[in-house]
Amino acid sequence: MSIHPDCERVMLTEEQLRARVKEIALAVDEDYAGKRPLVVGILKGSIIFYADFIRFLSMPVELDFMAVSSYGSGAVSSGKLNIKKDLDRDVKGRDVIIVEDIIDSGFTLANLKALLYERGAASVKIVTLLNKAERREYEVAPDYNCFDIENEFVIGYGLDYNEQYRHLPYIGILKRSVYEK
Ligand code: IMP
Ligand code: MG
Repeated sequence: MSIHPDCERVMLTEEQLRARVKEIALAVDEDYAGKRPLVVGILKGSIIFYADFIRFLSMPVELDFMAVSSYGSGAVSSGKLNIKKDLDRDVKGRDVIIVEDIIDSGFTLANLKALLYERGAASVKIVTLLNKAERREYEVAPDYNCFDIENEFVIGYGLDYNEQYRHLPYIGILKRSVYEK
């Protein structure tokens, strides 16, 4: 397989991703036995992880999606999440599993978790593919985390830089020259 020229190196191969996603999905499946959770994918970064993750679940699940954004750098954050696409389903009384690509500052998930509890969710747990613990500014921890990673900007397997690279089947480190020019 050829590596994208904007990629410094591959951090996680397709094989590593598949094996770990399966392991995490089976753990979640076991923990939710007898339940019927609402599995919420956060668009767009989680799409590939989400699609792989749900195919290892044997429990009955309902799928839903949200698109959120934090205000761009420089803008003063109102402390509220900007919801670009909301859920179709009511979360009241539901066990919700949030599926996210990466936790960085923690802003997105800290706010989203609080919002879903405000709306009456019975439980809210977080499944993340990647965790940059070193960058945390908001108090939130994943309940299930596939990989702890260093503070590097990564692309592929759903993750983007300027909406590029999401389709790469591996997780790679983006060359600094791409965003520092
Ligand atoms: P947080 O709200 O600061 O935790 O930001 C999480 C969001 O930032 C993720 O859902 C990604 O969209 C984005 N993000 C953070 N780090 C990276 C990265 O290394 N590559 C691509 N997107 C990232
Ligand atoms: Mg994202």
